[in-house]
Amino acid sequence: GPIDPFTNTSPPEEVVITEKPKVSFKDIVGLDDVKEALREAIIYPTKRPDLFPLGWPRGILLYGPPGCGKTMIAAAVANEIDSIFMQLDAASVMSKWLGEAEKNVANVFKMAREESKKQNKPAIIFIDQLDALLGVYSTEVGGEARVRNQFLKEMDGLLDKSENYKVYVIGATNKPWRLDEAFLRRFQKRIYVPLPDYEQRLSLFKYYTSKIKLDTEVSLEELAKLTEGYTASDIRDIVQAAHIKVVKEMFKNNLGEPRTITLQDFKDILKVRMPSVNPELIKAYEAWTEKFKAL
Ligand SMILES: Nc1ncnc2c1ncn2[C@@H]1O[C@H](COP(=O)(O)OP(=O)(O)OP(=O)(O)O)[C@@H](O)[C@H]1O
Ligand SMILES: [Mg+2]
Repeated sequence: GPIDPFTNTSPPEEVVITEKPKVSFKDIVGLDDVKEALREAIIYPTKRPDLFPLGWPRGILLYGPPGCGKTMIAAAVANEIDSIFMQLDAASVMSKWLGEAEKNVANVFKMAREESKKQNKPAIIFIDQLDALLGVYSTEVGGEARVRNQFLKEMDGLLDKSENYKVYVIGATNKPWRLDEAFLRRFQKRIYVPLPDYEQRLSLFKYYTSKIKLDTEVSLEELAKLTEGYTASDIRDIVQAAHIKVVKEMFKNNLGEPRTITLQDFKDILKVRMPSVNPELIKAYEAWTEKFKAL
């Protein structure tokens, strides 16, 4: 006969990662408000559920431009609070699980609830590219609707007060406007992860240049000024490119050590490397934030 999907509670590994991510809060430069909001949302209620007779939000949405730390910070939270962590990528769920997607979504939640009870720890289900659950990636007609409905049902299950599960869902997206009202309602906390401001860019340059040799004339303040509109991952890439530039030169010229990196090296790279997000997109996030933010 047919295999009972609920006897096998381990969805395919390629879309669910349960291994504890190595990243921690100290690897994430800036975003102090985001870190604090996440800590509070998860730590206080799990420590003292008795102080939250009206319940508390289980769904947390991180949204914002690509490359600014959403995935990183979700992974770091799990380490910070020593929780069970299950990561699934919604785009892979929709493309790889085919007809199994909604059963597997149910299994992921089931696993999280069971493990949370067994280990008496909070469990975080991290769903990256959350907007993909709403469709387009599915190759099966009608598949999106079923996955979507299963997901909404599971989210409601977490709010059931008779069951004191410490299960949280952190969703991440860089297309928040694709989420419909039913989705948004279940993510009661919505946190914007923005482009780095001047101070954060300065910290990013400090962080990413700490292991490489800079010329004494290089001013990180100047670099932070020159990189308005760039993402955190752009800044990492710029520093990496500058470093690779001098290493290549070393090999070409048969030198023993790379020379120090100058401000001009950075300027050369910035000339050919534009910010990976455009100002229009940032405006769209800001407009969405005005309408839908929920801290
Ligand atoms: N705040 C940060 N501090 C340090 N490094 C960062 C930060 N944000 C991003 N990075 C660097 O950029 C990379 C990409 O970040 P991450 O994957 O978290 O972005 P994201 O916001 O999830 O993007 P996407 O929307 O494309 O999924 C990280 O692996 C890290 O190297
Ligand atoms: Mg990401």
